[in-house]
Amino acid sequence: MLKGIKGNVIYGNNPHDIKIMDNHYLIYDDNKIIGVFSNMPDYFKNIYVEDMGEKLIIPGFYDLHLHGGQYLQCGVGMSKQLLEWLNDYTYDMENKFDQEDFSEKVYKIFVNELGRVGTLGSSVFATTSIKGTEKLAEEFEKKGLRSYVGLVSMERNAPSYIVTSYEKMISDNENFIKKFKDGNLVKPILTPRFAPTSTMKGMMALGEMAKKYGVPVQSHINENKDEVEWVKKLFKRKAYGDVYNECGLYGDTPTLMAHGIYMTEEELKMTKEKDVILVHCPDSNLNVRSGIMPVRKYLDMGIRVGLGSDIAGGHKISMTEAIVKCIQLSKLNSVFYPEQEMISFSEAFYMATAVGGSFFGRVGKLEKDYQMDCLIIDIPQIYRDYYDLKDCLEKYVYMGDDRWIYKRFVAGKEIDIL
Ligand code: GUN
Ligand code: FE
Repeated sequence: MLKGIKGNVIYGNNPHDIKIMDNHYLIYDDNKIIGVFSNMPDYFKNIYVEDMGEKLIIPGFYDLHLHGGQYLQCGVGMSKQLLEWLNDYTYDMENKFDQEDFSEKVYKIFVNELGRVGTLGSSVFATTSIKGTEKLAEEFEKKGLRSYVGLVSMERNAPSYIVTSYEKMISDNENFIKKFKDGNLVKPILTPRFAPTSTMKGMMALGEMAKKYGVPVQSHINENKDEVEWVKKLFKRKAYGDVYNECGLYGDTPTLMAHGIYMTEEELKMTKEKDVILVHCPDSNLNVRSGIMPVRKYLDMGIRVGLGSDIAGGHKISMTEAIVKCIQLSKLNSVFYPEQEMISFSEAFYMATAVGGSFFGRVGKLEKDYQMDCLIIDIPQIYRDYYDLKDCLEKYVYMGDDRWIYKRFVAGKEIDIL
């Protein structure tokens, strides 16, 4: 059924252009945008339109990298670096998600919080527990949020209580994919944790599965210097990316690779050629002291870069935090490397909306034929009185919070928040 909303429609049209259509009508059918109009066309005259007044209508945010099984851990162990942090805190926490009542309780809160902060789509690592991972997918379905949900694959180099045998890893993944692959908003994604916790044999099998079922892939790459050296030694390869690529896990199906701070020139060339999306997670890179991703260099090479909260390497679940930290880190980077210009607000906003959304289909822009996903942002009047719409958007991203989100729509349906 056709419906409409009226308000100030704003979205990232390209990385350098925030399109602003004040007082426009956004018309949609069940799940798709029909068009955005300055005046209501005659043939739509009789449809129901909700007037949002002066509120902003913006795309949702799309978080391309985070760990549901680490949600409770946010802000804990933040003095450690990656490998210590995993061993001392993370694996213990993730292990609890094999208990159904625990995973149900935590994932319900986690999914609700994603919706609360306006993350309308996400690509999530659950844990190695098949029961827990199914619970997470079910919570996303109940909430009506978009998600790629990953059963984490780990065969070695982690405590015995959390690794899975090759056989169980394969059968659990097959079962999980079969159960969720035809989902509408919630779908499976193959998720080898990172190369060190997998074997070549295991990753080869996951690569085969990706192709067989047409399922996307997510993992971590080149995040931390010790990790990079460990991978080269374990696999006797020149570069980290070669390991994934040889296994069919690097762009043979749509692929997300988190971090990518220490990429070689050859790896960058391959990333561009295979259209792998690198996911920049600035809070995490700061917290576990990984380094700074040279985002400008990658964008100049034509590589797609999205944003992630990387909960719980990152401590804040909102993508507005990732946008701001991405800009701030790029400013710092430009002090040390003046040839790498800072990332602008419109570029970072575009990464969190349009680039992130593109992983989910025609999602992340407010244009004809895109999915009707949006946030209605209520800017306090005192700011509206002094600032134009573009400044209000920037203000919301920098200092607003979920209290400024009036409504959330995914595929044309309003999301209820607890
Ligand atoms: N590399 C392997 N596992 C993890 C994880 O859980 N978080 C981060 N940030 N990096 C990882
Ligand atoms: Fe991560």
